[in-house]
Amino acid sequence: MSEPEGAAAHRSEVAGAKGRTFLVTGANTGIGRATAAGLARQGGRVYVAARSREKGEEAVAAIKASTGNDAVFYLPLDLADLDSVRACAADFLARGEPLHGLVNNAGVVRARGLTKQGFELMFGVNHLGHFVLTNALLGCLTASAPARVVTVSSDSHYSAHGIDFEALRRPERGVTGMHGYAVSKLCNVLFSAELARRTAGSGVTTYALHPGVVASDIWRRVPWPVRPLMLRRMLTVDQGAATSLYCATSPDVAQDSGKFYDKCAERAPSRVATPELAAELWKRSEEWTAPD
Ligand SMILES: NC(=O)c1ccc[n+]([C@@H]2O[C@H](COP(=O)([O-])OP(=O)(O)OC[C@H]3O[C@@H](n4cnc5c(N)ncnc54)[C@H](OP(=O)(O)O)[C@@H]3O)[C@@H](O)[C@H]2O)c1
Repeated sequence: MSEPEGAAAHRSEVAGAKGRTFLVTGANTGIGRATAAGLARQGGRVYVAARSREKGEEAVAAIKASTGNDAVFYLPLDLADLDSVRACAADFLARGEPLHGLVNNAGVVRARGLTKQGFELMFGVNHLGHFVLTNALLGCLTASAPARVVTVSSDSHYSAHGIDFEALRRPERGVTGMHGYAVSKLCNVLFSAELARRTAGSGVTTYALHPGVVASDIWRRVPWPVRPLMLRRMLTVDQGAATSLYCATSPDVAQDSGKFYDKCAERAPSRVATPELAAELWKRSEEWTAPD
């Protein structure tokens, strides 16, 4: 059956990265860096948001050199400090550019402690920082539509049985640190689904995804000699960036929003990821991050 003419026009409008502007968090290394490089290779303008200026600028120089695209820029962003998150959004908005793709990629695993504003570190960095960043940029994304918000979750989200909202105000207590990580990654899925509901009809579409099990710096806390043995079996960071790039640029998903992806295909998220829990998380996140 042939596609309606209007739909085809919309699909071609959003295909690829050429001439479009993207912001990728945690793009100094790992999957984020490979995603930023992939977007630059396709001709996108790319903002590399990272907490370390030195590492961020090194990544920008390397991406420019490897892709031949000079439209790659560094933005300071520490997701563990909401003042830094707001400053990053303000810095981007002050440039007066459109934003066609926000890739919420940065993440920490097995991390212990609290963010500057007193949230469990993995929840704070992986979810709450991105919640504030996305909302601060949402007006720009909407004005730039069609635009996409891609949030890198994990298949670890399947092991979270729910959210203990009280536990999000204290450091992770589990032995492995994986419980807090799973909850933060469930929050990524819930956030993406609720954002889709809130942006329906605006031209902003949202995607959450599992990148695969990827040999990146995220395993830095796994002790030797387990780590090198584990890494050998994993995907490369370029392979790990494939689903992020698919969600950020493919015309195949231009009409979709709020879904979860794995291996460049839709996959059912955890049954725990209900619209009710998504609405509750959004409400709490909003209350917790409201300016004083
Ligand atoms: N690797 C996997 O197998 C796997 C599997 C499922 C999901 N994921 C998800 O994929 C995403 C990317 O992970 P990766 O594997 O590429 O890990 P990675 O190599 O460790 O990269 C993580 C990135 O997040 C940044 N980051 C950490 N804390 C930050 C903060 N407070 N503010 C700003 N940036 C911060 C890191 O910056 P620094 O370099 O300064 O630390 C780094 O750029 C994460 O969301 C992760 O949960 C990964």
